[in-house]
Amino acid sequence: MPTVTIHDFLKKKKEGGKITMITAYDYPFARIADEAGIDSILVGDSLGMVVQGLENTLPVTMDEMIYHTKMVTRAVKNAMVIGDMPFLSYQTGIAEAVKNAGRFLKEAGAAAVKMEGGAEIAGHIRAMTKSDIPVMAHIGLTPQSIHRMGGYKVQGKTEESANRLLEEAHIVEDSGAFSLLLEAIPIGLGKKISEELSIPTIGIGAGPHCDGQILVLHDVIGLFERFVPKFVKQYINMKEEAMKAIRTYRDDVTKGIFPSEDQSFK
Ligand code: KIV
Repeated sequence: MPTVTIHDFLKKKKEGGKITMITAYDYPFARIADEAGIDSILVGDSLGMVVQGLENTLPVTMDEMIYHTKMVTRAVKNAMVIGDMPFLSYQTGIAEAVKNAGRFLKEAGAAAVKMEGGAEIAGHIRAMTKSDIPVMAHIGLTPQSIHRMGGYKVQGKTEESANRLLEEAHIVEDSGAFSLLLEAIPIGLGKKISEELSIPTIGIGAGPHCDGQILVLHDVIGLFERFVPKFVKQYINMKEEAMKAIRTYRDDVTKGIFPSEDQSFK
């Protein structure tokens, strides 16, 4: 099976097919997502919250992102792997941003990077694209801006802020982004942006009219309990399943049922 590329993203947009994305942060889950036929895996800085147990994504470092991205690319045969630029890996200047983005491709084997921001990262997108680093931009609720936004709040609810987001979407497209992630915006705005842009939009809490969808893996499988955003659909509760299995193992050991002769050497 050929590897998914940014050209397949654009092709799906033109042909009206939906792009499927999920996050993953390690070898076993990246392998499952890939074998399940997901088009693209984002190694999101959400790993700070769902894997490292941090309060938010801000402390996540470039080295940690590279470490996790390597595990994911090692597992994946078909999906396009995208590395997420963590807080302060690009906000400090374009040259540093290009260097850090390049690390995802050069050291970790990713095919593209994602960066939070609109107009303020237009120069970064241009410089990265010129250096052959494909960029997915990310607007709406941008978790690295929680302190400015005052929490994880739906964005673009007023006419003024919706128009601003529409403008930002055009700016990132004109700057060379190959796609745009829209997070936590009203359904109508997600539709309008998706209709106006020629690059594909990937929604998370942006309604069904986006060209593709992404969810955080640990939300999908019930392994993140701290809060469940309205836009999440949990498809399995793996915490419960794992709890059952581990409890049974504990009971078996306590009662002397495990190991039996089957698990013993003669
Ligand atoms: O870090 C992340 O996982 C994200 C989500 C919006 C998908 O950016």
